[in-house]
Amino acid sequence: MNQLYKVELATRLADRVYEYWIRAPQVAQHARAGQFIILRLHEAGERIPLTISAVRGDAVRVIFMAVGKTTQELATLRAGNSIKDVVGPLGKPSEIANYGTCCVIGGGVGIASTPLIAKELKSAGNHVIGIIGARNADLLILEDEMREVCDELHITTDDGSKGIHGFASDVLKKLLEEQTINRVWIVGPAIMMKVTSGVTVPYGVKTYVSLNPIMVDGTGMCGSCRVTVGGETKFACVDGPEFDAHQVDFTELMQRQRIYTGQEKVSIERFAEHRCRCGEGGGHHE
Ligand SMILES: Cc1cc2nc3c(=O)[nH]c(=O)nc-3n(C[C@H](O)[C@H](O)[C@H](O)COP(=O)(O)OP(=O)(O)OC[C@H]3O[C@@H](n4cnc5c(N)ncnc54)[C@H](O)[C@@H]3O)c2cc1C
Ligand code: FES
Repeated sequence: MNQLYKVELATRLADRVYEYWIRAPQVAQHARAGQFIILRLHEAGERIPLTISAVRGDAVRVIFMAVGKTTQELATLRAGNSIKDVVGPLGKPSEIANYGTCCVIGGGVGIASTPLIAKELKSAGNHVIGIIGARNADLLILEDEMREVCDELHITTDDGSKGIHGFASDVLKKLLEEQTINRVWIVGPAIMMKVTSGVTVPYGVKTYVSLNPIMVDGTGMCGSCRVTVGGETKFACVDGPEFDAHQVDFTELMQRQRIYTGQEKVSIERFAEHRCRCGEGGGHHE
């Protein structure tokens, strides 16, 4: 059956950051915190992974930053447009249980993953502390939603335009000095996850990070999402994307994320040329 996945709502949240609700009943029915979808816009499109940020009825929410060809093309869609393929939920769900006090940290567009993790931890009986950080106040997303699902919420901005002037790692360090935290989740850029998870090492607090290597098939077949965890090769799409942060080889992850930089640049230039020729000015969002 040639099913299409309709975009029910398309909203611009911040500069180059968009929130889409996509009708995908099979995915919505089974989705859990920590999982993701792989979508393909059209027959000739590239497959890209995006975290399932929320579920409502038959629809799943994705929040993405338009960084390259496919995400920029995705950003031109409006409510009512359709996506060719949506596969998921993929990956292992977050390891939710009643641990006591948990801290859920999101950086930049990585904040997209945090409300669902925080919500499931809260439902499991945990005291949930949220920390969300962005470069500046304009780029900070989902503050209200995180405030609703967390027992406490801390905000940081790199430039001090909102909340604490500094990084999520600074807040986490302070919290660890003051109280017992039993589990920590961190989702954000690789360097932020590396630095922030380093803070929990001396305290021996189990810390999960959601890794974002290049993915293609999402089924463990192609090997492009290979990461090293605890000295062993893992495939982030099927063994993760969440892993024990203290075991992750972040240096290798960051090197592998840059493998296709040349091709990605060519691809985005071609897409920009195509849009100019077609006179497209980008999508309209509510
Ligand atoms: C499990 C997982 C969940 C993710 N969730 C989100 C999310 O919720 N929101 C969000 O904005 N981004 C998310 N990403 C990253 C997102 O997939 C990439 O930004 C996207 O694929 C970029 O595609 P592009 O063609 O627009 O850019 P490109 O020009 O192809 O690349 C731009 C950047 O994205 C990285 N990238 C390219 N292709 C892939 C790929 N297939 N898989 C992973 N990274 C890639 C490149 O290394 C490069 O740094 C997630 C990645 C993974 C692995
Ligand atoms: S994306 Fe191909 S093995 Fe994970």
